[in-house]
Amino acid sequence: MFAIPYLIGGIVAATEDGIINKIHVLSKGGGMSSYSKRQFVRIISVGIIAALMLSPSAWAWGRIGHRVAAEMAESRLSPRALAVIHELLGPGVSLSDISTWADEHRNPSSGAWHYVDVPITESRYDPKYCLSKGCVVSKIADFRRILIDRRADKFKKQEALKYLVHFIEDLHQPLHVADNNDRGGNQTQVRFFNRGSNLHRLWDSQLIENKSHNEQDWLRDINSLATSQNVSQWSKGTPEDWAAESLQIAKKAYCLPGTNTVMPSGTKLDDNYCRMALPIIQTQLAKAAIRVAATLNEIFR
Ligand code: ADE
Ligand code: ZN
Ligand code: ZN
Repeated sequence: MFAIPYLIGGIVAATEDGIINKIHVLSKGGGMSSYSKRQFVRIISVGIIAALMLSPSAWAWGRIGHRVAAEMAESRLSPRALAVIHELLGPGVSLSDISTWADEHRNPSSGAWHYVDVPITESRYDPKYCLSKGCVVSKIADFRRILIDRRADKFKKQEALKYLVHFIEDLHQPLHVADNNDRGGNQTQVRFFNRGSNLHRLWDSQLIENKSHNEQDWLRDINSLATSQNVSQWSKGTPEDWAAESLQIAKKAYCLPGTNTVMPSGTKLDDNYCRMALPIIQTQLAKAAIRVAATLNEIFR
């Protein structure tokens, strides 16, 4: 997403290559400044590299996971919660529309809010792993408090709602809670169907996209998990409990399929790993949806 303007710039520059030698760019003062072709190509290249380095892949469930969980959550809101939320977000804006906002507006100070690094050797979540700058567990509590606060203004509440939905979802991505001294799997390189990737990226998006890019298919699958028994069970607990669940699941994600051996960097993963991971991902997305809805229904009751 981020890289698109740069890529368009690059294509435009390449297309014009044989036609013009000077490219005019609007300068800050409003006048035109001339760049040589070589300078322009260099600027575009730096832009592309910067865009790739800042690419959101390492930050959260990818777009599909966030949007689908939020859409299922919205379908389970009480009439009152739905009314308050639509008043906050404005006409025609859905929970799924705002579910990826926190990744699109990440910055150095909010980056750490999307995860908490609990060592996979731990048996449960411990708040000591939540750094003072905040983590996914503490920020859920912070933004919930803003939504309850009658003195908080509308803008603050809007922002709090966007963060709250996103962070409850991130908390259900197992590798946003667990760590093996590898930044939640970001530094464990893997080969996924013989292409280079890393374990974190697999769980954010690639396992999801490898199954289907179709949000309606995903929505149907995760909705089918919302039996009354599951819903009543999943609606219980606190974000700390949900983090403990994610941690337990992450232990499986870190292991070679069918073993208790943590995978080394360079491990080859394919269908075997997908068969283990996909049911877990479906369940985690369904739980996230149920818990976003339960949290919002409770806040706006
Ligand atoms: N950076 C460090 N740990 C991380 C994690 N668990 N998820 C995403 N980014 C991280
Ligand atoms: Zn992530
Ligand atoms: Zn995120």
